[in-house]
Amino acid sequence: MRVAIIGSGYVGLVTGACLADFGHTVVCIDRDASKIESLQRGEIPIYEPQLSELVSKNAIEGRLTFSTTVADPVSDAEAVFIAVGTPARSRDGQADLTFVLDAVRDVAAALRGYTVVVVKSTVPVGTGDNVERVIREVRPELDYAVVSNPEFLREGAAIADFKRPDRIVVGAEDDRARDVMAEIYRPLFLNKAPLLFMARRSAEMTKYAANAFLATKIAFINEVSDLCEQAGADVQEVAHGIGLDKRIGSKFLHAGPGFGGSCFPKDLQAMIKMAQDHGAPARIIETAAAVNDQRKRAMARRIIRACGGIVRGRTIAMLGLTFKPNTDDMRESPAISIITALQDAGARIRAYDPVGMDRAREVLDDVEYCRDAYDCVTGAEAVAIVTEWDAFRALDLDRIRTLMARPNLIDLRNIYGPDQADKAGFRYVGVGRGKASIVDHEPRVPLALVG
Ligand code: UDX
Repeated sequence: MRVAIIGSGYVGLVTGACLADFGHTVVCIDRDASKIESLQRGEIPIYEPQLSELVSKNAIEGRLTFSTTVADPVSDAEAVFIAVGTPARSRDGQADLTFVLDAVRDVAAALRGYTVVVVKSTVPVGTGDNVERVIREVRPELDYAVVSNPEFLREGAAIADFKRPDRIVVGAEDDRARDVMAEIYRPLFLNKAPLLFMARRSAEMTKYAANAFLATKIAFINEVSDLCEQAGADVQEVAHGIGLDKRIGSKFLHAGPGFGGSCFPKDLQAMIKMAQDHGAPARIIETAAAVNDQRKRAMARRIIRACGGIVRGRTIAMLGLTFKPNTDDMRESPAISIITALQDAGARIRAYDPVGMDRAREVLDDVEYCRDAYDCVTGAEAVAIVTEWDAFRALDLDRIRTLMARPNLIDLRNIYGPDQADKAGFRYVGVGRGKASIVDHEPRVPLALVG
């Protein structure tokens, strides 16, 4: 099939590279000329495992090309994917459709013959109808279909998620469009991936509902972890205990510093707004979002408590800055709220992240960025593990302890355990790990002053 993809960001690029790898002929398009030039040179603007290799391979084999212009690739294509950003509008948190609708107008002008316009961007329910209307206004005579095909890609695992999806969701209103989509995804049928056809509005809703459910699951286990701390239970054991129940499922039950990233916080806000607009308030989702915001700040207080209540002038080491491992993405990362709150309390921050430090420099001031984990902890009053990079899973804890001013380990991802940390001579604070998460040493000031 001949496919054009509008928007060569994270989703567009992953989709383009994977579809080319399936054997389709793909043109990835972006307005940003410098981005297209780098892609043509084989440089990938984002960090995503395997993406660079996949782009190069398919570019060399001639199935994947890049362009700044819409007209030729679109007029040639049997399917045009819209994969541009839908950032949150500052006034109300709803998804801003400016980029989507601009792209659709450009596409509409260039379409020739029956073409399927596939909306991959995350858009409020009903956007497919708007897209259809916009195209009809520009080209009343044209034969086309508008399809919703949301993505469920996790950063850091996007290629695997694309090639081995749990399901592919396609909201299409006509048979011809369904056939085109089935042909595009045919290589995945070998992996037995279910291709779900449904109404377009259902597909649009599926994306929001999936993200809201996953985010709520995380908010839920984080709340359970707070209770575990007070009640003397271990959330790791509890998560295991409930996760094996197939009705619950073991994924997304890791307690931690709260969810971040480019999707969950933004999509939750958009869904909340959409629900309000429809007069069907999404109270559970509103609560999950609010609880998560509070949680990020609570993690800074946890670190301050571990330091005895005062961090002014003291050095705190942060291991991990990105919102999760295997990405350089800092968007909505808990590290941002935590570091900002610690700095407000007067702490000096040293930080190390295996991949995210360039991006971190753009959003965090007055941080000393370090060479590696050991450099980072040198002279620190406490070390906080904020992102569970593999590189932090097997640290030499004895060495870490001897480099630090005080042996405070605040493990916000529970990658170590109280016993292991204890053996290495640390005072350990995990998340939801019974007494090991309660700071039991005497604070130097009343905790009320900690905030
Ligand atoms: C998410 C969805 O998983 C994906 O389907 C959608 O298309 C985009 O949003 P992503 O943001 O890349 O993907 O990351 P994900 O792995 O889902 O993690 C999101 C956040 O939740 C991270 O901050 C992560 O640390 C946190 N998380 C995840 C937990 O705190 N606990 C968990 O058990 C799982």
